[in-house]
Amino acid sequence: MLDNISKVLPVGQLYVPSFEDFKDVVDHLSKNNYYTNHGPLLKSLEKELSSYLGVKYVLGVTNATIGLIIALEALHEEGSVLTPRFSFPATMNAICMIGANVCYCDTLQDSPNACLESLEDKLINDNSIKTILLPNLWSTLNQIEHIKFLAKKYCATLIYDSSQAFSCSYEGEKISINGSAEVFSFHATKLITSLEGGCITTNNSSLYEKLTHIRSSYGAVGNVLKPLRIGSGRMSELQAGLCLKSLSYIKRSIEQNRKIFNLYKELLKPKNKYKIFEPGSRKIESSYQYVVLILDQAVNQVRGKLTVHLNNNNIFAKAYFNYDFSVFNDENPMDFPNSIKLSKSCICLPIGERITPEDVIYISKIVNDFFDSLDF
Ligand SMILES: Cc1ncc(COP(=O)(O)O)c(C=O)c1O
Repeated sequence: MLDNISKVLPVGQLYVPSFEDFKDVVDHLSKNNYYTNHGPLLKSLEKELSSYLGVKYVLGVTNATIGLIIALEALHEEGSVLTPRFSFPATMNAICMIGANVCYCDTLQDSPNACLESLEDKLINDNSIKTILLPNLWSTLNQIEHIKFLAKKYCATLIYDSSQAFSCSYEGEKISINGSAEVFSFHATKLITSLEGGCITTNNSSLYEKLTHIRSSYGAVGNVLKPLRIGSGRMSELQAGLCLKSLSYIKRSIEQNRKIFNLYKELLKPKNKYKIFEPGSRKIESSYQYVVLILDQAVNQVRGKLTVHLNNNNIFAKAYFNYDFSVFNDENPMDFPNSIKLSKSCICLPIGERITPEDVIYISKIVNDFFDSLDF
């Protein structure tokens, strides 16, 4: 066991392609003299992603936040956008960036997924809502078919922010086509990475044309007669090349995540003080990118102390997402009790390429000792 662990243990995949992979990509770029503007590496990445995910169209973008802004700009016409009051703040920020109102529904209890009753209640009572933007967080998935049904019933456009759920499957199919568009992040902390980057997926050819037009400042595909507001969200050839390398290792990365997740489950001793969030189910095949502890109400006031204790031991656990979401609108936080509870009680432990079984033994011992030392 590692007592004097010297490396920093981060939350997030932090799988960065090797120096050889970098050299390979840079060599390729300097030979090809093609650096950006929808070059051959980007086209090749989009083709590979489309075949991996089983979706007709993929657009590589600078990052997922830009991807969300582009998808919203293409799909949301007017009124409010409904989203759960618990996500990475980029979800809400993207809505604000296109000038739309953010409107909240609640999550389920002890899960980041949208509560269907709360979602439907909002759709019934607020007819300014024209779009639903749902995050698939912690490599788990929302109740896809019920949400599709509700979006259709209330004539709302559905977009998924699947930044944290790349390669997860619902009833045997990889996600990517469940909304009109779906957005993924390839940030350095994600399962596949271009360090910064992301993509938008869709099966709709005219939407694809529109998205492509908004992504580029050059209107690269098709004829879009109506002039659109343009967001320059191109992915560079360097990003695309790195992402192709990263994608080639994905099977190994998911297998590693699954092993690490199961080892945590074996070693951590929750003893009624917290739950380990299970992202998979009979319908959902997870890529296990997150290990989330949800602290019990009786102990959630020690989350800050636990985070500091872990940080002092080089374990960069994160309270994903302890954020003041009231900055995005003035709805009463008390109307969203599950989201508020989640914001106060969850903490993510390290998982991903850089985390070894020895690290998990070390981290689990620190967590177990911490909870054993509590006198309640
Ligand atoms: C749910 C969610 N949405 C959006 C983003 C933004 O992604 P990016 O950093 O690629 O812009 C993230 C990043 O972690 C995320 O987790």
